[in-house]
Amino acid sequence: SGAITLDRGYKNSGSCLSEITFLDGEEGILRYRGYSIEELAEKAHFLEVSYLLIFGELPTAEQLKQYETDIRKYTLVNEEMKNIIDGFPKTAHPMGVLSALTSALTAFNPKAVNPDNPKELYESVCKIMGKFLVIATWTYRKTMGYPLNYYDNTKGYVENFMNLMFHLPTEPYKANPIIVDALDKLFILHADHEQNCSTSTVRMVGSSHAGLFASISAGASALWGPLHGGANQAVLEMLEEIHAHGGDTEKYLAKAKDKDDPFRLMGFGHRVYKNFDPRAKIIKKAADEVLSTLGVDDPILEIAKKLEAAALVDEYFVSRKLYPNVDFYSGIIYRALGIPTDMFTVMFAIGRLPGWIAQWKEMRINKEPIGRPRQIYTGHAFRGFVPVDKR
Ligand code: CMC
Repeated sequence: SGAITLDRGYKNSGSCLSEITFLDGEEGILRYRGYSIEELAEKAHFLEVSYLLIFGELPTAEQLKQYETDIRKYTLVNEEMKNIIDGFPKTAHPMGVLSALTSALTAFNPKAVNPDNPKELYESVCKIMGKFLVIATWTYRKTMGYPLNYYDNTKGYVENFMNLMFHLPTEPYKANPIIVDALDKLFILHADHEQNCSTSTVRMVGSSHAGLFASISAGASALWGPLHGGANQAVLEMLEEIHAHGGDTEKYLAKAKDKDDPFRLMGFGHRVYKNFDPRAKIIKKAADEVLSTLGVDDPILEIAKKLEAAALVDEYFVSRKLYPNVDFYSGIIYRALGIPTDMFTVMFAIGRLPGWIAQWKEMRINKEPIGRPRQIYTGHAFRGFVPVDKR
C-alpha cells in the first residue's frame, strides 16, 4: 500500500478506459462512438443510436430491423409484476417505483448473463430495452390509477412510449408524430454521457458481478437525485415558482449567488462542461420548434430564456463557467408534450438506458476489477471499550 490520493467526488480520477463516448468539456464537444451528437440528433433514431452505443457500430438496415423485432419479443412483462406495482401507494414517486420494479425483474430473470457469450448478452440487452420502457410507463399509469397498457407490435419504440403512457380503453389514442420525433431526439441526447454519477454506479454495482438488471436498478436510483437527472424536475419546479412570483428572475439569481442560501440555479453548471453543454443548445432550439409547432405559448419558456440571458452575463456565473446544462430546457419540452413533471427523470432514465447497458457491457468484457476506492481515515485513534454502565 502506497500513499493514497484524495480525490473527493472523483473530480480528477479516470476510473476506466472506454471507447464509447468522447466528451471535451472545455470545448463543449460530445460524440458517441466518434459520431457527433448534433448529427446523431438530427439524422438518427433512438434505437439506432442505442445499437451504436451498445454494439459499437451503426446497425445495417437488416440488423436494425432484427433488433427492433428482438426487443419487441421481450416487451411482455411478467403478470406477477403487477402485484408488486399494486403494493405501492399511488403517491409514490415514479423514480422510486421504476428502480424497485427494475430490481424486481431480477426475480423473474434470475439467471446471470454471461457477458462473454454474445448470444446471451444480446438477448439480455433486448430484454432490458423492452421491459424497462414498459415498466417506466407503468409507474405513471399507477399514479393515475389507469389500467396498465401493453406494447403494440405495430408501432415503433418511441411511439409505443406515448401509447403505453396515454392510451385509454375508452378513447382510441394516436400519438402526434411531431411529439414522437421530439421525444426521439431527446432520448438520443440523453443516451450516454461517459462516467456520470448513474453510469459510474452501474459500473460499480456491476463490477461485483451483480447482474445487469440489478446494476441498472442502482443506476436509476443514482439518477433520481436533484444534482443529477432529478434536476430536470427541479428546473421546472423552479421556473414555475419564479412564474408564480411575478417572473422575478433577478431575485432567484441573487439567491443562487448567495453562499448562505442553499438554493442553486437548477439546470446550470456541470462537472465536466466549462462551456455550453452541446445538448442544451440542441434542446433549446428544439423547445422553440416544438412549442411553436404545437402552438403552445408557455410563459415558462420566456422565464427560462430571461434567466439564461441574465446568468450568462453575470460575473458569478461567468467566472465559475456555469452554463445551462441538458436539464435546463428539456422539462419545457416534456411539459409541452403533456408529460407530468414527476415523470421527467423517468424520461431521462429511458434515454440513458442504452448508455448504462453499453458501459456495463464494456466493463464486463474488459474484465474490470471490482470497484473499491480507498479513504483517508480521520476518526479516533485506538480507544479501549467502555462498558455501558460506565458511559
Ligand atoms: N447555481 C449556483 N452556483 C453554482 C451552481 C448552480 N447551479 N453550480 C455550481 N455552482 C457554484 C458552486 O457553488 C461553486 O462555487 P464556489 O466555487 O464559490 O464554492 C462552483 O460553482 C463550482 O461548483 P461545484 O459544486 O464545486 O461543482 P460540481 O462539479 O461539484 O457540481 C453540479 C456540478 C452539476 C452538481 C452543480 O453545478 C449543480 O449543483 N448544478 C445544479 C444541478 C443541476 O443542474 N444538475 C444537472 C447536471 S447536468 C446532467 C445531469 O447529470 O443530470
